[in-house]
Amino acid sequence: KGGAKTEEKKVLNVGTEATFAPFEFMEKGEVTGFDVDLLNAVAEEAGYEVKIDNTGWDAMFAGLQSKQLDIGMAGVTITDERVESYDFSDPYFESKTMIAFKEGKVDIKTAKDLKGKKLGVQNGTTGQFAAEKVAGKNSPDISKYETAALMFQALQGDNVQAAVTDIAVALEYQKNNPDAGIQTVTDDEEFESEYYGIVFPKGSGLVDEFNSALNTVIDNGKYAEIYKKWFDK
Ligand code: ARG
Repeated sequence: KGGAKTEEKKVLNVGTEATFAPFEFMEKGEVTGFDVDLLNAVAEEAGYEVKIDNTGWDAMFAGLQSKQLDIGMAGVTITDERVESYDFSDPYFESKTMIAFKEGKVDIKTAKDLKGKKLGVQNGTTGQFAAEKVAGKNSPDISKYETAALMFQALQGDNVQAAVTDIAVALEYQKNNPDAGIQTVTDDEEFESEYYGIVFPKGSGLVDEFNSALNTVIDNGKYAEIYKKWFDK
C-alpha cells in the first residue's frame, strides 16, 4: 500500500508540544508517545513520511496558520472555535477534563470546588477554558503555563493548588509520581466529552487521505495495538 517500496515518500512536517505524556513526550531526544505511533501508522498507510518536531503549543498553531507545518499532532481537542481556523481529521481519541491536586492540601470533589483555589493550566488549552468556566475568565486565580510540564511543576511546587488538564495526562502524571500524593477527580456534570483530532492548515489537501488511512488503521487492528501499548500496561 502507498506505492512501490522504491518510491520516494513525501515528508510532512509535524509540530507538537511534547510534555503531554502518554500522548507525546521527549525520550532520549526523540518525541515519543501514543500520538507519535498513531500518526506514524496513519501516515504510512496514506503513503507519507512524517518528521515530528517539538515546536511548542503556540508555535504549532502559528506554523499551521502559515502553512510551514503540514500537521499538528498534540492531543488537540476539536473545538468549534478551532474548526474555524483549522481543518481536523475525524476524532481519534475521547477525552475529558480532569483536576489533579495534592492529597491533604486541598479537598476537591467536583468542578465547583475549583472556585477560590489557585489553578494551573496549560495556556490556550481546553483545561484553561474549563477552569475559566468555574473561576471566571481572566480570573487572577488561574496561572497559565506554556507547557503541560510547567503546569505540573507548579502543582508539585505548591505554586498552584490544582492543575486542570486532560484525563489520561493527569492519570499518567499521577502514576509516574507515586510519592507525590496526587489525587485526581473529574466531574461528569460540568465537563463534557471532548475528542482529539489531527490538525491541518485550513484547506489542506491531506484531510481526506488521512481520514481514510485513520479508518483503515482502526479497522485493521493497528489502532488497538497502539492503544494497548500506551494504555493497558
Ligand atoms: N486537549 C487539550 C486541548 O486541545 C490539551 C492539549 C494539550 N496538548 C499538548 N500536547 N500539550 O486544548
